[in-house]
Amino acid sequence: MLNAVGLKKLYGNIKGVENVNFKVEKGEIVGFLGPNGAGKTTTMRLITGFLYPNEGDVIIEGYSILENPVLVRKFIGYLPESNPLYEDLKVSEYLEFRGRIKGLKGKNLKERMDYVVQRCEIEEVMKKLIGSCSKGFRQRIGIANSLINDPPLLILDEPTQGLDPAQIYHTRELIKSLSLDHTVILSTHILSEVEAICSRVLLIHKGNIHFDGSLDDMRAAFSGGTQLKISLLCPENKGVEMLSQIYNIVKFTVIPSGDEKICSFKVTSKESTNIREEIFWKCYENKIPLLEMSLIKRTLEEAFLKMVSEEREEMQ
Ligand SMILES: Nc1ncnc2c1ncn2[C@@H]1O[C@H](COP(=O)(O)OP(=O)(O)OP(=O)(O)O)[C@@H](O)[C@H]1O
Ligand SMILES: [Mg+2]
Repeated sequence: MLNAVGLKKLYGNIKGVENVNFKVEKGEIVGFLGPNGAGKTTTMRLITGFLYPNEGDVIIEGYSILENPVLVRKFIGYLPESNPLYEDLKVSEYLEFRGRIKGLKGKNLKERMDYVVQRCEIEEVMKKLIGSCSKGFRQRIGIANSLINDPPLLILDEPTQGLDPAQIYHTRELIKSLSLDHTVILSTHILSEVEAICSRVLLIHKGNIHFDGSLDDMRAAFSGGTQLKISLLCPENKGVEMLSQIYNIVKFTVIPSGDEKICSFKVTSKESTNIREEIFWKCYENKIPLLEMSLIKRTLEEAFLKMVSEEREEMQ
């Protein structure tokens, strides 16, 4: 669906983004995650053709955006950062105007307007001036605009920025439902947003992509080894003795179990070892019943902060 190849954008001497390469397949919801100034908006402007790269190209549905900007933009619905709208138009006038600009007319225009109004739940503000609509409605009007010509790809730059918790929830649910019919790329600096909506994350920091993969892969990549909780049916000293014999365990700590017949531990293993299998067989060898073994998921927050702090350490 989309292939960004070697994108570089400089603003004078300031690096916007560099060496940005990624592919998005049909049906994915991809989250661009990065702190302020990371290069999210720059990337989105490049892949929507609003900015011209210093290097690289973007191929959408097989067409280069540099060679076919008018055609390629028809494949894209774009909600820009801070969602610029015409304050003095009524919502209905605005959507009709945007539909006409995008080549819709007559019955087709009316049908698409009815569809996006119903899908984005903005019936009640259709007769209002945009300037008098709340932020939540304005955001939904922006999304309705991006949907009006039924583009296969939606690109949403910080779609929940500045919304209250209820509106954030509503907007996320809308995006999730839209992803059933559209490929979605969104940007955010809120980690929980990616967790709530996306199937894949592209981590961007200081203009470079640092990670591209699933959320589980990201946790694993930044966690520095697997963490497990295990519970054994044996006295604590026997459990300690057994775990001390497993070479790939880096560290373990006792978790109070409240039952002297059972001992529980938090176990950290070396990276890329199949520690669960090793623990299972060691328990079998020692005839210790293994009551529980579960993966402790590190939060994305931890993963993200680790990445940023590692980079700081490298710079010092
Ligand atoms: N028009 C511009 N002129 C000069 N520098 C710019 C311009 N736009 C962006 N930059 C710089 O490029 C870098 C990337 O900015 P960008 O807006 O793409 O980041 P972002 O991830 O969208 O940040 P935010 O979360 O604050 O929206 C930053 O260092 C920013 O200061
Ligand atoms: Mg931005």
